Amino acid sequence: MRLHDKITLITGAGSGIGRSSALLFAKEGATVIVNDLVEKGGLETVEEIHQAGGKALFIQADTTDPESVKAMVDQAIEAYGRIDVLFNNAGVSGIGAIHEVEPEDWDRVIRINIRGVFLPCKYVLPHMMDRREGSIINMSSCIAEIGLGRRASYSATKGAVLSLTKSMQVDYAPYQIRVNALLPGTILTPFVENYLRTSYDDPEEAIQSLKKRQLSGDLGRPEDVAKAALFLASDDSRFMMGSPLYIDGGVVFGKNA
Ligand SMILES: NC(=O)c1ccc[n+]([C@@H]2O[C@H](COP(=O)([O-])OP(=O)(O)OC[C@H]3O[C@@H](n4cnc5c(N)ncnc54)[C@H](O)[C@@H]3O)[C@@H](O)[C@H]2O)c1
Repeated sequence: MRLHDKITLITGAGSGIGRSSALLFAKEGATVIVNDLVEKGGLETVEEIHQAGGKALFIQADTTDPESVKAMVDQAIEAYGRIDVLFNNAGVSGIGAIHEVEPEDWDRVIRINIRGVFLPCKYVLPHMMDRREGSIINMSSCIAEIGLGRRASYSATKGAVLSLTKSMQVDYAPYQIRVNALLPGTILTPFVENYLRTSYDDPEEAIQSLKKRQLSGDLGRPEDVAKAALFLASDDSRFMMGSPLYIDGGVVFGKNA
């Protein structure tokens, strides 16, 4: 039970990596506050946790809206008295090179992927600072480290999240709060499936070429990232501060010949 008695909040936990992390955190003894914009997915995650005998509560909130986020944090504090772990997971993809991206699409990706990290941190941090403990996990991506074509808005946001993580760590180290980032490679989730469907004539061929990009020869699974999130959430990573953690099948540091 690596998260015994911990109160954890995961944004975007109604699907993919967020859901998988919520299930694992609950299995490891945490109470999971399952956030999502979409009620259906969030409730399904909570239902799965309850069926497995775990503890979870769904709170619908838009991570880009200050009132919505503040109300979520207030509700969580009222219910449990504290938040030990905040996992800023919610995010969206953005396709296209700069000249192909419409300004409103650019703004949407920037808003969800950066403001949607800033706001939960802003409202959770004062509670962690009072207690002088906490772990914050920010979802970046290996795209923060490598150039990938036609991902202008997405790469800009994930690079920003990585920089923000390092800067946050300096501000909150005096409060014994750790802030680290996850940098996954390509993980087969609804997010990637949707991108493959809408961006390629032959999604199966696209999957094969994505697999070739990984030294592992295969794509990642949501559970692979959930296990890394568990490590950052737990005291096992107590000496990790302001760090990127790569779960990428070798994409960043290896090279397929
Ligand atoms: N799948 C990958 O290959 C991959 C790789 C690197 C990083 N990531 C990052 O991991 C995170 C999760 O990705 P996923 O693949 O599980 O995606 P997903 O689409 O399966 O899940 C994302 C969830 O976030 C929710 N969400 C979106 N906007 C929200 C908002 N404003 N407020 C609350 N919830 C919101 C969605 O409803 C959805 O349930 C994202 O930040 C993504 O950028 C994914």
